[in-house]
Amino acid sequence: MKFKTIEWKGDRVRMLDQRRLPQEVRYLDCRSASSVAEAIRTMAIRGAPAIGVAAAMGIALAAKKTRSVNPQVFTKTVEKVCQEMRETRPTAVNLFWAVDRMEKILKQVESDGVEETKKRLVREALQILEADIEVNRSIGMYGKKLIKEGDGVLTHCNAGALATGGYGTALGVIYAARDEGKQFQVFVDETRPMLQGCRLTAWELVQEKIPATLITDNMAGVLMKKGLVNLVVVGADRIAGNGDTANKIGTYGLAVLSKSHGIPFYVAAPASTLDLSLGSGEEIPIEERNVEEVTHFCGSPIAPKGMKAFNPAFDVTPHSLIHGIITEKGIIRKPFHKNLRKKFATPNSLSVRPRSQPRAGRAGKLRTRNSEGV
Ligand code: MRU
Repeated sequence: MKFKTIEWKGDRVRMLDQRRLPQEVRYLDCRSASSVAEAIRTMAIRGAPAIGVAAAMGIALAAKKTRSVNPQVFTKTVEKVCQEMRETRPTAVNLFWAVDRMEKILKQVESDGVEETKKRLVREALQILEADIEVNRSIGMYGKKLIKEGDGVLTHCNAGALATGGYGTALGVIYAARDEGKQFQVFVDETRPMLQGCRLTAWELVQEKIPATLITDNMAGVLMKKGLVNLVVVGADRIAGNGDTANKIGTYGLAVLSKSHGIPFYVAAPASTLDLSLGSGEEIPIEERNVEEVTHFCGSPIAPKGMKAFNPAFDVTPHSLIHGIITEKGIIRKPFHKNLRKKFATPNSLSVRPRSQPRAGRAGKLRTRNSEGV
């Protein structure tokens, strides 16, 4: 990759500001944990694994900058930052997984001492970043077999290097197939309302010189009907124990379309995206963002003033529509509830959901608001 999504710089966290892409490649230096949290909230950095890495680095930064040598005061300060990170975005479980890992280290402060704990927290954050890149490469190795010479591969949102520590999950599969010399065509959903496909995936593919065609989200059906799509690969923000998968809004519709056209639909995700503590996708908390993302386009209003809108950032694709989940341990097939546990039932992936994590809202309830929040 010609760019770095996120980097530890010792006294700051540097990230590629994704709000400015593709017009501008500008790096954002976060010198405090609060500025890292703000970057996650405002989507300067986004994508499930990437926000996990960012949260971990934010916590490491806070620890490093804490002056107190008293273990209780130190713990209280860093704990507060862990909580701040947890409250940034609710759906991607990687964020909570990363904060849990950092908290585990923090808990050993009484025996390790404050100075050693600071070093261990920094090491842990770096380890989360490095392991994520490695894991993505394994996902690519397993997933590339699904792409055949001459295929049309459709993806949604951005599950590439920008959404991870580097390389990517769904795009990792595409990069690995390209590295093997396969020739194929990628179709990129623009991904309304935040346009991650158009702004980020398209940008990555142009950087990597991979032949790709951008479409608006409502064009996928026509492409499928024309026989131009042979495979759909998307990323994930949280996968429940039965395989139900939360991913960017629009993923569910794509899965339904794929099913009715007989096109295999795959999810690519690391173990850190699994939440085996959840029985089904009904329990996944879905983030609802400001409705101006729907009523406005690039800052300009496109709907009448006062118009109500609905803006869930994610949807849940039922496991029945998913052919397989491409992970760093291979492609997991149905029955997912059995096979996910067989491969991933470690204390890590079965960790109890943090108390502070919001619970899912009631299914079927439609919450609309206008830009005044009414
Ligand atoms: O709202 P975003 O941009 O953070 O949503 C990102 C996605 O939905 C990605 O598909 C998902 O996080 C997988 S990233 C490897």
